[in-house]
Amino acid sequence: MIEARGLTKRYGRTVAVNDLSFAVAPGKVTGFLGPNGAGKSTTMRMILGLDNPTAGTVRINGKRYADLRHPMRQVGALLDAKWVHPNRSARSHLRWIAAANRIPVKRVDEVLATVGLTSVAGKRAGGFSLGMSQRLGIATALLGDPGVLLFDEPVNGLDPEGILWIRQFMHRLADEGRTVFVSSHLLSEMALTAQDLVVIGRGRLIAQTSTREFIDNASESAVRVRGPEIERLHGALAGQGLTVRDVPAGAEGPAALLVPNATTEQVGELAGQLGLVLHELTAQRGSLEQAFIQLTGQDVEYHAGSPAGPGGPGGPDGPVGPVGPVGPAGPGGAGVTVPPPVGSAAAGGASVGGAGTQGGNAR
Ligand SMILES: Nc1ncnc2c1ncn2[C@@H]1O[C@H](COP(=O)(O)OP(=O)(O)OP(=O)(O)O)[C@@H](O)[C@H]1O
Ligand SMILES: [Mg+2]
Repeated sequence: MIEARGLTKRYGRTVAVNDLSFAVAPGKVTGFLGPNGAGKSTTMRMILGLDNPTAGTVRINGKRYADLRHPMRQVGALLDAKWVHPNRSARSHLRWIAAANRIPVKRVDEVLATVGLTSVAGKRAGGFSLGMSQRLGIATALLGDPGVLLFDEPVNGLDPEGILWIRQFMHRLADEGRTVFVSSHLLSEMALTAQDLVVIGRGRLIAQTSTREFIDNASESAVRVRGPEIERLHGALAGQGLTVRDVPAGAEGPAALLVPNATTEQVGELAGQLGLVLHELTAQRGSLEQAFIQLTGQDVEYHAGSPAGPGGPGGPDGPVGPVGPVGPAGPGGAGVTVPPPVGSAAAGGASVGGAGTQGGNAR
């Protein structure tokens, strides 16, 4: 269990972490999601006692890191996979850490086997690929068999096989009842890895929720439906007071209808009553990307005009800029169109491709 209350860290004029409160429960993977510069690593360093908070507290199993009697047996962390003496072998790297922390040396071979490094245990860690280094970092975190694990961007730079391995490994650790807190700016990856999310932007908490709720609440869900009598279907759905959008035939398939905020039961039963044949009836959920941009987009608006705005002196990177797979910013970029926030005065959708592009509906 990790609990942060009012956690704040300032570096000069930069507020890296701003009054952050959240809890990370055992038995599941909790994703720590935020764009570059959001304050994820700073928060992790404060959890591990490597940085002192300017204000607030953070506790692991009810204690500050510095007060843990055997820290490596309670919490393991991978912050930087390349933090290994290059001339030491994987095994000797783990042996000195075990010795320094009074961990039985037999544990070294156990964790090497767990992460699949037994066959290269005697090789120089300096010659390891990034994927092997990540595995060694995970082995180090597991050395004390801790109940709490922190991983900072563990899939950065890994190939698809490495990413899959790490994802499955995180799930396994959570299934063993451990608290697994893993940071990433890769939204699509977190959607597959984490059951719960702590989402931050500019050091502030944006949401703490299950991944499913986060997507459902922040982005539009809709029913996609098509059949040979699409026009009758359109009329019948509209007659029920539902919003219906035409999806022309294209790369996604033949012409269809999109019915936001409806259920497949509603649409299917209506079609059934009218005896209309359907060729497709699917529930479409919004993506984590959409949800994230919608939420952090509001955060940007809130800060608009402040001295620490996007690109401003000393300010952290804007939350909607480098958000992984969303697409490049700027003219011609593949921006993502999201509906305006509920209650917003903006007409139409807002195209978000880079920091500051979602203007016009400041709160
Ligand atoms: N030691 C430091 N001195 C000054 N500023 C710092 C320091 N560490 C972090 N910052 C600033 O604090 C903010 C948050 O940085 P942090 O590294 O915690 O973000 P992050 O979410 O981990 O980003 P990334 O996804 O790029 O790893 C940034 O504006 C960063 O420049
Ligand atoms: Mg970081």
